[in-house]
Amino acid sequence: MVDKETIRRGYDELAESYAAAQSEDGSETGILAPFLDRLTTPARILDAGCGQGTPVLQAAPDDVDAVGVDFSREQLNLATENAPDAAFIQGDMTRLPIRENECDAVTALHSLIHVPLEDHQAVIDEFARVLCPGGRLLLSEGTTEWQGSNPSWLDSGVEMQWHIAGAETTHEQLRNAGFTITDEWGRSNEFADNEERWVFFVGRLEGDDEGQSESKSKSE
Ligand SMILES: C[S@@+](CC[C@H](N)C(=O)[O-])C[C@H]1O[C@@H](n2cnc3c(N)ncnc32)[C@H](O)[C@@H]1O
Repeated sequence: MVDKETIRRGYDELAESYAAAQSEDGSETGILAPFLDRLTTPARILDAGCGQGTPVLQAAPDDVDAVGVDFSREQLNLATENAPDAAFIQGDMTRLPIRENECDAVTALHSLIHVPLEDHQAVIDEFARVLCPGGRLLLSEGTTEWQGSNPSWLDSGVEMQWHIAGAETTHEQLRNAGFTITDEWGRSNEFADNEERWVFFVGRLEGDDEGQSESKSKSE
């Protein structure tokens, strides 16, 4: 059964265990670093489903205004310790507590995969709403559609659920929301107790704002 409250409560209870597992993983750095390098200040980055504040908010450059949104209070407590310079808002990715056109970049690493499938397009539309024209998105998904749960994730006795739409559907949803995909990577990962393949998309929101756009970055 799809149950957002199970996911939120699960992350409240699993925050420490997830953070420990995540710090051993660290495999997103090679994708994240070039994405952050392209930010030209002044800039605001939103990390949606920021979790414990790593890897994105901790790695955000000092002169970038970084904001994390997550619905788990315990995850946000850890994030405040891990990324003390960032601002945090407890909220849901389907209704981001951010005004439109406020962000130059949005990241969502391993968070959309917990959102019920019927809400994926709404979340991606929210990313488009809060981004400036020409703004960039870094998003991870699973390569193939899969929904399931683990009654004792990370051997914790706490249930977790995943709602993975797959690369093809996500690609289409990004296009529907006005993104052009500028980069795409896939890789294997056994993190959620299954042989999974994650896919990472970088998208650029249509629009002629040169503030953080690909064309400006490339011409510098
Ligand atoms: C697997 S963790 C990822 C954390 C971090 N982004 C990372 O890459 O390690 C997923 C995070 O998404 C958050 N999350 C899941 N669904 C959410 C929703 N609908 N709204 C806000 N946060 C959500 C969870 O609370 C959790 O902190």
